[in-house]
Amino acid sequence: MGEAAPSRILLVEDTASLAAVYSEYLRAAGHTVDHARNAAEALARAEAAPPDGVLLDLRLPDGDGLSVLRSIRRTQPDMAVVVMTAHGSVATAVEAMRAGASDFLVKPFAAERLAVTLANALERAALRREVRDLTAGQRRGGFQGFVGGAPAMQAVYRVLETAAQSKATVFITGESGTGKELAAEAVHRLSPRRDGPFIAINCAAIPRELIESEVFGHVRGAFTGAVADRIGAAQAADGGTLFLDELCEMDLSLQGKLLRFIQTGSFQPVGSTQLRRTDVRFVCATNRDPLEEVRAGRFREDLYYRLHVVPLRLPPLRDRGEDVIAIAEAMLARSAAEEGKRFRGFAPDARAALLAHLWPGNVRELENAVRTAVVLHDGDLVEAAMLPLRAAPAANVAPRPSAADAATRIRPLADIEREAIERAVEICDGNIPKAAAHLGISPSTLYRKRAAWGAAAE
Ligand SMILES: Nc1ncnc2c1ncn2[C@@H]1O[C@H](COP(=O)(O)OP(=O)(O)OP(=O)(O)O)[C@@H](O)[C@H]1O
Ligand SMILES: [Mg+2]
Repeated sequence: MGEAAPSRILLVEDTASLAAVYSEYLRAAGHTVDHARNAAEALARAEAAPPDGVLLDLRLPDGDGLSVLRSIRRTQPDMAVVVMTAHGSVATAVEAMRAGASDFLVKPFAAERLAVTLANALERAALRREVRDLTAGQRRGGFQGFVGGAPAMQAVYRVLETAAQSKATVFITGESGTGKELAAEAVHRLSPRRDGPFIAINCAAIPRELIESEVFGHVRGAFTGAVADRIGAAQAADGGTLFLDELCEMDLSLQGKLLRFIQTGSFQPVGSTQLRRTDVRFVCATNRDPLEEVRAGRFREDLYYRLHVVPLRLPPLRDRGEDVIAIAEAMLARSAAEEGKRFRGFAPDARAALLAHLWPGNVRELENAVRTAVVLHDGDLVEAAMLPLRAAPAANVAPRPSAADAATRIRPLADIEREAIERAVEICDGNIPKAAAHLGISPSTLYRKRAAWGAAAE
């Protein structure tokens, strides 16, 4: 705290003795100092060589420090400007803040106070510049492992970058395979906690009876099989990021414990009466609609509001236009290298097929399709016939039938259900529990239905 990168500071102070003292403070904090004795000099210097920050006395012989502040603000909206006021002139300080001062110091002040105030102002100014550059900014063709420059993704990249700086919980939603985990990792990597641990807990993959211990740890003898103390994810993520993946699958009793942990920063390992404290930054993800889960009573509303601080929605791949091609090409280069194949691109018919497909499994489905083509085929260009894509669009996004052909185009619900299930199993590489989780049904239902079809097919 109070440590700043060396900056060039313009000191505007008419009293020579004070100017000498403040210059000394600033140099001690590692800054270089440029000194102006009055308003005219201040403006001339600020224009000739814009400093990183200004330390500005509000009472100047040739005018008002406020007018200096205002004219600097007109050309330098993001510059750090800290004003100095005399003791007792709170109204002036408030006016200066309204006019765009970054902060104010009441005279007299100590060196440490100046260093901290200025460091914070410089840091905020740098952040603001960064955000503005991004907002106005260059469109990016990719970011932190994400390939693609679609407009919908620009917003994602901006949120990732700005949210990462703070400790605020990022709540990621998006269909299966849209890159939620990739986004969670990016938040960690871009955050000041990047050198700390990144711990992911997949609430859908861990059996209910084990999840509390996975999150909070347990003590020896807490339950059968607990032969030794074991730390949980909350402890392991101390100083880093705790990623709660598939958050909506967490059961209600654990949701209560999680809420307490978030509110107090402390928790009890299973079987322990002792409170432990950790410092973690939360990132959550779900492919469900969290508010729908709240309405259905499956997710605590208070927990939802605690966690839903910075929402980040990953758009489905079908809404990302040409990104499909860019991602496919990146995957192709990687898969071809891994498999020792010489593929170097997609034939026109394959590009058309990639763009036409609706990608219910999103980027993961695309990844798998490209890898399958590379593994099973050889050549220079991947052709449409090599891609394992279904000709028919997914049932839920099929074009609306006209009344005339409705009879031939509307399919029995049972067929659609079966197709949706088989597709889910395929996307999940045959992993039935995962497919069931994505479909929102229990694995046993899925096993039962598939067994029934198997029997019918005999
Ligand atoms: N824009 C992208 N560019 C390149 N690769 C991507 C992109 N988005 C996702 N991926 C890759 O796609 C795969 C799926 O991403 P990820 O696991 O992050 O999705 P998810 O939303 O967490 O999926 P699920 O809901 O099934 O858990 C990963 O291999 C990831 O690296
Ligand atoms: Mg995931």
